[in-house]
Amino acid sequence: MADNEFDERFITADYTSLDNDIELSLRPRTMEDYIGQEKVKENLEVYIRAALKRGESLDHVLLYGPPGLGKTTLAGIVANEMGVNLRVTSGPAIEKQGDLAALLTNLSEGDVLFIDEIHRLNRSVEEVLYPAMEDNALDIIIGKGPSARSIRLDLPKFTLVGATTRAGQLSAPLRDRFGVVLRLELYSPEQLSQIVRRSAGILSIGVEENGALEIARRSRGTPRIANRLLKRARDFADVIGNGVIDLETANLALSKMEIDSLGLDRIDRLILTTMIKNYNGGPVGLETIAAAIGEEAVTIEDVYEPYLMQIGFLSRTPRGRTVTPAAYEHLGIAIPGQQKMF
Ligand code: ADE
Repeated sequence: MADNEFDERFITADYTSLDNDIELSLRPRTMEDYIGQEKVKENLEVYIRAALKRGESLDHVLLYGPPGLGKTTLAGIVANEMGVNLRVTSGPAIEKQGDLAALLTNLSEGDVLFIDEIHRLNRSVEEVLYPAMEDNALDIIIGKGPSARSIRLDLPKFTLVGATTRAGQLSAPLRDRFGVVLRLELYSPEQLSQIVRRSAGILSIGVEENGALEIARRSRGTPRIANRLLKRARDFADVIGNGVIDLETANLALSKMEIDSLGLDRIDRLILTTMIKNYNGGPVGLETIAAAIGEEAVTIEDVYEPYLMQIGFLSRTPRGRTVTPAAYEHLGIAIPGQQKMF
């Protein structure tokens, strides 16, 4: 997310540096420990086993879906199950062709190279990636002008795991070079509750089953948010309660954080109320909403909309976004033209 006033929001799906160590220890290391994403897991397990059986490296994998669902974690699990190293980088971090060349030439046979936000790679870097993915080759241009020539270096076989919040933004030549394309889905409250209880166990946090489920129900389908809310709920349990997160403490913590019964925070509600008050509930264009609330359009699209659409509060039409009757009801706002019955 861009540097802006909303960086501190509790339910952001972005990492903060402080959270990194803990996030790392909470990451499952094996498929067996990874909760949810059953379809993805099932297929990926087959591809991994097949590659191991043939003594080959795994084909390149593209993971896409909203942020915070465990794409980096899955890349780590793939490397672990294949018995190879994981190298982690991101699209914006690779600025020049030489940066990528350095990464590629330092890989060992079979390694997993994870590129987060792969849709943000620049075109000239992408061009180095094509022969690397296809032929395990690095084409280097030596010299300039008429005397320039290209030499080809062999690279070790490797698996590129690319992650993106939006597969549609990937250039077609890049997308076509992934042999495996997997879409991650938002998690159910039951799956998130399992994740919360697993994390609580690792972090030695006392949590009752209904406390865990309440945190899960308000984590908008996202493990990274669930883990963060768990840690904040522990703070409330330690200071105000008896150190154990029961339903009452969970409710108190979540309401203090302005997270409502469905997991919507101030910004979600601002998006919906702005659409209702300024644009009669829509249809209204994404850019217009973004300008009205002072948020970036891509952030609204990647971070907020997936959950609002999943719970049926927002729909996308060719003419723009529309707020649904269910959202009016949740916000306690009367639908225009509809008489109150009581
Ligand atoms: N922590 C974050 N995501 C997880 C997942 N999918 N399974 C288990 N623990 C997790």
